Amino acid sequence: MLVLMFLCTIIQLLRVSVLEKNVFLVEIWAVVRIFRDYSEISLKVDDSKGVMDFEKIFGRCGVVHVEVGSGKGAFLLSEAKEKTGEDFLGIEWARRYYRYAVDRIGRWGLKNVRLVRADVADFIARHIGDNSVDCFHIYFPDPWPKKRHHKRRFFSVSNLQQMIRCLKCGGAIQISTDYAEYFDQIKQIVSSESRLDETEFVRPLGAEDGELVGTNYERKYIKDGRDIYTIAAKKIT
Ligand SMILES: C[S@@+](CC[C@H](N)C(=O)[O-])C[C@H]1O[C@@H](n2cnc3c(N)ncnc32)[C@H](O)[C@@H]1O
Repeated sequence: MLVLMFLCTIIQLLRVSVLEKNVFLVEIWAVVRIFRDYSEISLKVDDSKGVMDFEKIFGRCGVVHVEVGSGKGAFLLSEAKEKTGEDFLGIEWARRYYRYAVDRIGRWGLKNVRLVRADVADFIARHIGDNSVDCFHIYFPDPWPKKRHHKRRFFSVSNLQQMIRCLKCGGAIQISTDYAEYFDQIKQIVSSESRLDETEFVRPLGAEDGELVGTNYERKYIKDGRDIYTIAAKKIT
């Protein structure tokens, strides 16, 4: 099966333009790399367990970050490596990215990161408790550009209500996107919520010169010459 997937990828690679080849090589690496499953990192969604007990999961009571759509885990890795006294949960739906991130975090031996493969809106609504999160990180959520697909966007009034419920007082939401129209919608939703105050966007520690966030997608979008928009808000009540 692996050999077949590899051959298909090579055939596709031969058909793409030179510009797209770099992106494709990364994809090939994601396909052929042998992923290890680190059971201590990858959490299973178990409905019977209900709301997550972060204290039990991380073995301590402290600052909890949740990343929405963590992709290949670049943010989780760079941030958790530096902030060893804080805890991080990444939620990702795509199996390939999820396994890539688990493997990556496992290889680094980080004890303060967990990943769960789930639909993020559903997971937050059903498995994250009230006043339990210090910061939600939403970096480059899928923009779903077609109007008829806008309802699939993660950033909506109802998902924001859920995140506010989960945030501790003083907790924050950090958002970035390369999609101007989605950004306007996000700003509008945030500003119409009286329990939030806009605050300064804090650049993650993995952001290098010329970057605001430092994730894989930001790097790709910067290469494509796209503008990056950020916004952050704090729960005040
Ligand atoms: C544009 S990528 C951004 C990834 C990463 N945050 C970054 O900046 O590199 C969006 C990510 O969200 C994930 N995603 C999309 N819909 C999701 C959902 N409903 N639940 C969980 N993850 C989702 C995608 O699989 C993808 O990894």
